[in-house]
Formats: sequence, structure tokens, C-alpha cells
Amino acid sequence: MSTFSITRTMPESATAAALRADVRAGLTQTPKSLPPKWFYDRHGSELFAQITELPDYYPSRAEQELLAARAGDIAAATRARTLIELGSGSMSHKTRCLLDALPGLHTYIPVDVSESALRGAASALADERPALSVHALIADFTERLALPASPGPRLVALLGSTIGNLLPSDRAVFYTAVRSLLEPGDAFLLGVDLVKDESILVAAYDDPAGVSAAFNKNVLSVLNRELDAGFDLDAFDHVAHWDAQREWIEMRLRSRTEQTVKIPALDLHVHFGQGEDLLTEISAKFRLRTLAGELHSNGLELTRWFTTPRALVGMALTTAAPDSPPPMHPAGRTTTCIR
Ligand code: SAH
Ligand code: TRP
Repeated sequence: MSTFSITRTMPESATAAALRADVRAGLTQTPKSLPPKWFYDRHGSELFAQITELPDYYPSRAEQELLAARAGDIAAATRARTLIELGSGSMSHKTRCLLDALPGLHTYIPVDVSESALRGAASALADERPALSVHALIADFTERLALPASPGPRLVALLGSTIGNLLPSDRAVFYTAVRSLLEPGDAFLLGVDLVKDESILVAAYDDPAGVSAAFNKNVLSVLNRELDAGFDLDAFDHVAHWDAQREWIEMRLRSRTEQTVKIPALDLHVHFGQGEDLLTEISAKFRLRTLAGELHSNGLELTRWFTTPRALVGMALTTAAPDSPPPMHPAGRTTTCIR
């Protein structure tokens, strides 16, 4: 019999307060920036789904192909009974591919900040798969997660190059938090985009149809709606800039003119100079050696590494390092060692 639940880990008022705090902090500092998690209201999630279909946006298709080829290996290595998918979004074919490959799967826990993405997708999935327990969690995966009890072994997954949207210091905090969720026999699967030719990277984030631009500008619509802000979306240009030294794409919104934007809910007037950039997202690209190094430094050991034929994207399967501190949550469930 299918079990379905959806849990909000923080009250809506806390989400609203977090948005206000992020916007105030981000728009009063130099350079101006906003955290990327606010892109994904209903319209933003829909635009992201459109991005994944763009001819030049290779990461989704490449990751999908990689999963299709390797899901069996992942299943054999993990024997997961619970899949916890962080930033699950619309639970596309990638999610279904993993679910299909895991024969003993009992519970699926999708975690996303976007309530609209989670609601529709998780209940549809539960309807489709009556044998699966689906416990959706509206939560920020960069904060400490209170997960429902679920049978081990557990596989935690973060796909879609979403790790690349965190700054290196935030990635370290995130890995440590994931590490604390893992018990012996559990695993963490991480999908990353790889460093490649600049022209391919920039094309993936700046399509001629303007879908990436619309997605980037959608964060301004969120501020207009939620904070009664006065952003004119046409007064900003979408910019995708490759930072070759830090090996990340920077998504920016560049003010076309000198302008002052009012945000009444925050009692804030934000001044933009002509050509001034607002940084909305980074999308870091990885190399195996540095990725393995940063995982290791944060208590995660690489056990398998998968890439597509032309090394477009990669997927790291990791386990908690044996000498790491014990998990912070109470033990007491059955675990199976993967090797
Ligand atoms: N996993 C999907 C979707 C990727 S888009 C795929 O591979 O195609 C990124 C998703 O992560 C969005 O649904 C967004 O709402 C979610 N997200 C971004 N930051 C988040 C955070 N800090 N906590 C929880 N979810 C987050
Ligand atoms: N997580 C996606 C990525 O890093 C986000 C993304 C894709 C994005 N295309 C975009 C963000 C265009 C802003 C604009 O690939």
C-alpha cells in the first residue's frame, strides 16, 4: 500500500523571514548578490525544466545518460532501501531511473525548498508507485535535516550540478552535514559538471531563446511578488560569465541604466549604477582530483567514479570515512555493509 506524506520542516513565516534576511544582506553589500535557492517558485521551477530541454544545456541529458548506464552499478554497490534525494525538483526521468534500478527500495524521501515543485511531483510519483513509501520534505538541504525514520541502507543523492551552486566554503559545510546523516553501509551520490571548453560552458547558460535569461530574471519577479519590490525585469541583462581561475560560471543580472529600486517590505532603496552586476548564482565545474580531495577533507571517501564518454559530467559515489565521528542521530536501525 502506498504511503505518502509531505512535511514542512520550517513554518512559512520562517521561509519568509529567511527571504527578507537574504535580500537585505545581499542587496546592501558590494558586490550585490542573492542566494540561488530563491529562483525556484512555481514559474522558476517550470523555467528550469525548460532549461533542461535546451539543445546547449548538456548537463541534464548527460547526467540522465550516465544514470541510465550506471544505475545498475549504483544499485549493486548500495543496495539502498531508502533514497533521499536532495533538491529533487520536478523528479524527472533521472529520479525514475534511479528508483527503477533499486530493486529493494522501500522509501523515497525527496527534499526541496520549492514547495510547488515538491507537491505536485511527489504526490504524482506516490500514485505511480503504490509499493513505495514517499515522504516529501520541504526543507533547505544546507541546514540540518530532520529526516523521517527509514530503513537502511540509505542512499543520499544530490544531482543536477546543484552542488556547483554552493560556494566552496558552503560545500564543505554541506558535505559535513551529509556525512553526519550517513551510517555504516549508507552512501552519498553526487552529480557534478566537469571543466571543459569555455564556449560549451557559456552556451549552456546563455541560450538564444532567452530561457536562461528568463530563469535568471525570475528571482526579481519573486522579490516583486513576495516583497512588493519594484524591479523592472527589462532594465537588467542576463550575463553568464566564465571565471577561468575559479572554474565557475557566474550568473549575473547587469543593470542597463542607473536606477534605484524600492523594496517597501524591507523599507529599502537599492541603487544600481549603469552596468552594475547583481550576482545571482555560481555554477562550479569540477575536476576529479580536486573533487575527491574536497570530499575526503570533509569525511567522505570516493568509492566509484562514473563519467560520460566525452567527460561531459561526472558522478561520485561516496561513503563516510571510517575514522569520522559517529553520526549525530541515534542509531538502532538495521544496516547492511555494501562490501
Ligand atoms: N535534481 C533536479 C533539479 C535540479 S534544480 C535535476 O537534477 O534536474 C535544483 C533544485 O534544487 C530546485 O528544485 C531547487 O528548488 C532545489 N534547491 C536549491 N537549493 C536548495 C536548498 N538549499 N535546499 C533545498 N532545495 C534546494
Ligand atoms: N543548477 C543549475 C546549473 O548550475 C542551475 C542553472 C542552469 C541556471 N541554467 C541556469 C541558473 C541559467 C541560472 C541561469 O546548471
